[in-house]
Amino acid sequence: MDIVPFVDLAAHHAPVRDRIQAAVADVLIHGKYILGPEVEAFEHGFAEMVGTKHAIGVGTGLDALRLAFEAAGVKAGDEVIVPGNTFIATALAVSAIGAVPVLADCDPVTYNIDVNLIRPLITSRTRAICPVHLYGQAADLDAVLAIAAEFGLKVIEDACQAHGAKYKGRGCGSVGDLGTFSFYPGKNLGAMGDGGMVTTNDDELAARVRRIRSYGELKKYHHVEKGINARLDTVQAAILNVKLPRLGWANDQRRRAARAYEQGLAGIAPVVVPKGPADELAHIYHLFVIRTPRRDDLQRFLNEKGIQTGIHYPIPIHKQPAYAELASTGSRLPVTTKIADEILSLPMFPELTDAQVARVCAAIAEFHRE
Ligand SMILES: Cc1ncc(COP(=O)(O)O)c(C=O)c1O
Repeated sequence: MDIVPFVDLAAHHAPVRDRIQAAVADVLIHGKYILGPEVEAFEHGFAEMVGTKHAIGVGTGLDALRLAFEAAGVKAGDEVIVPGNTFIATALAVSAIGAVPVLADCDPVTYNIDVNLIRPLITSRTRAICPVHLYGQAADLDAVLAIAAEFGLKVIEDACQAHGAKYKGRGCGSVGDLGTFSFYPGKNLGAMGDGGMVTTNDDELAARVRRIRSYGELKKYHHVEKGINARLDTVQAAILNVKLPRLGWANDQRRRAARAYEQGLAGIAPVVVPKGPADELAHIYHLFVIRTPRRDDLQRFLNEKGIQTGIHYPIPIHKQPAYAELASTGSRLPVTTKIADEILSLPMFPELTDAQVARVCAAIAEFHRE
C-alpha cells in the first residue's frame, strides 16, 4: 500500500544530500569539533533569520529553555507561568532549576495559552511567563508583554515549534526577553540529532546564556557560576547551515498544504479544522492539528488506509506521573484536558503533495460518513 507518511525527512533532505555530506566532511577534516566555526556561522545566520542581535547555540530545546530561565534570573522556588497545553519540556526546564511550573489553560481556537487566564495565576513568587508558539502559530505576545510589564516579569518565548513564524511582522523568539528553539529532526528546521538555540537582543542575557552553556566559564578554566555543558554540536551546526536557507521555502510549502487541508476538510462534521490566523505569516504549520470526538477510531481507520498521524499531546502535563504534584490543577485546565482526547495531527511536511492531502481528506470524509 502507498503510505502517506506523517513526515518525510529523506524527501526533505534529498536535494541537499551532497551539500550536507560535504559540510560534515569539512568538520571531520578541520577537527574543531567543540564550538567550531560552523556553530558561530549558524548562530549568525539564525539570529538574522529571527531578527535578534544574539543567538546562542545549545544542546537541545530543553537546554535552551533552561538556560533562558536561568539567565532571566529564575531561581529555585520561583514560579513560571507556562501553558498546560504544550510539550512537557516547557515545564521540565522550569523544574530543572528547582522552580515551579504554573499551568495556564489554552484557548480553544488557537490552542495557545489563554492570555485572559494568566493574571489570576500571578503570585509574589512569579518571575516569568513562557508563552509557547504551539504547532507553529504565534501566541498573543502583546497581551503577555503587557501583563509582564505590569508585574515586572520576564517573558521567555518557547519557539521550539515556530522557526520563522512572525508575530506582527517580528520573528517569533525576538519579541520577549529571550526566545528558545529546538532543532529536533522533525522540526521545521531540524538537525540530524539534537540541537537548540537561545535568541535575545539583550547583551547581558546573551553573555549569561553563553557562560552557563559552557560550565559557567568566562574563559577556559575560569568559572564564575555553576553552569552546565549544553553546547550545540559542530556537526549539527554544519548540517543546519545547509538547511537554514531553505526554511522560508519549507514554511511556504507547509502553508500551501494547510490551505489544501482547509479546503478539503471544509464541511466534514464534526471535524474542527484549525482556523488559520488573519496574518498568514503568523503560522508555519509545524503541525496541522484537527479535532474530532472519535479521535482514536479515526486514527485507526487512517492507519489502515496507510495514512500516518500523530497526537500532540495525548497526555497533558497535569496528568503525567512525573507531575503528580500538579494533578489538582487539572480543574482549572478544562480545555487542555478535553482536547487531549480529540486532537489528531495530520501528515504535514513541505513535500506533502496536494494529491496526498486530497487522499487524507477523502479518508476523513469517508470515516465520518460511516
Ligand atoms: C514546545 C516545545 N518545547 C520544547 C521542546 C524541547 O525541545 P528538544 O526536544 O530539542 O529538547 C520541544 C520539542 O521537542 C517543543 O515542541
